[in-house]
Amino acid sequence: MRIAFIADIHSNLPALEAVLADIKKESCDIIYFAGDAVGYGPWPAETISLLMSQNLVGIVGNHDTGVVGSSSLRGYYDAARYVIEWTRQQLSAAQFEWLSSLSYTKTPYEWLLLSHGSPDYPQEFRYVATAHDVELLQHSHLKLPHLTVVGHSHLQRLFLMTSGKRALELSVDEESGISLDKNAPYFCIAGSVGQPRDGDTRAAWSLYDREEGQFYFKRVEYDISLVQKEIERKGLPRNFGVRLAEGY
Ligand SMILES: [Fe+2]
Repeated sequence: MRIAFIADIHSNLPALEAVLADIKKESCDIIYFAGDAVGYGPWPAETISLLMSQNLVGIVGNHDTGVVGSSSLRGYYDAARYVIEWTRQQLSAAQFEWLSSLSYTKTPYEWLLLSHGSPDYPQEFRYVATAHDVELLQHSHLKLPHLTVVGHSHLQRLFLMTSGKRALELSVDEESGISLDKNAPYFCIAGSVGQPRDGDTRAAWSLYDREEGQFYFKRVEYDISLVQKEIERKGLPRNFGVRLAEGY
């Protein structure tokens, strides 16, 4: 089984289309979506409609819960809150219902856990971005499975969790990926489809070939200028387009 992990799409339709084409090319059997379909970007309705048409299993991110009203918007800066409120007006009843129906975490198999932020308190959307963050999580009440996959930080990282409750960040070869030990626990930040913040402007996703035990970080080019033009056309904050071209 070849599994695709996507996260943090943020209404960036061209990036999602490029990633879905790449996923198809890689002959993946299923897509797991780790939250934040919307927010920041200019195509919320089209993005959700495309997600609904896929063979995927998803969970919510903080921007999604902000849009459907199940979390407070108090923690957001003005521009992000503005787009969340604008997004709410763009969705059809069916799209709103789909977004509302997603849960905070999912365990599709006993070996796989999905959460948008830290899985110990998933409704609080805490960031896990560094080895230190992963080590803190290892001291929580959770028993983490073979693979935990999150989004939220918009980074793309893989950590091995050792028996001494240490976390080692692993280097994943762009071409050949990395071989995972099926009996060891790993923590993956899947990468952001629609707003990468690791200095690489290409859309990001992750691939795990479960039978072969081979894990890959994937990147794919898309037309950033198209998104910038649509952000301007719809009167959304310009900076959400500028940052796409800078990868932060
Ligand atoms: Fe996000």
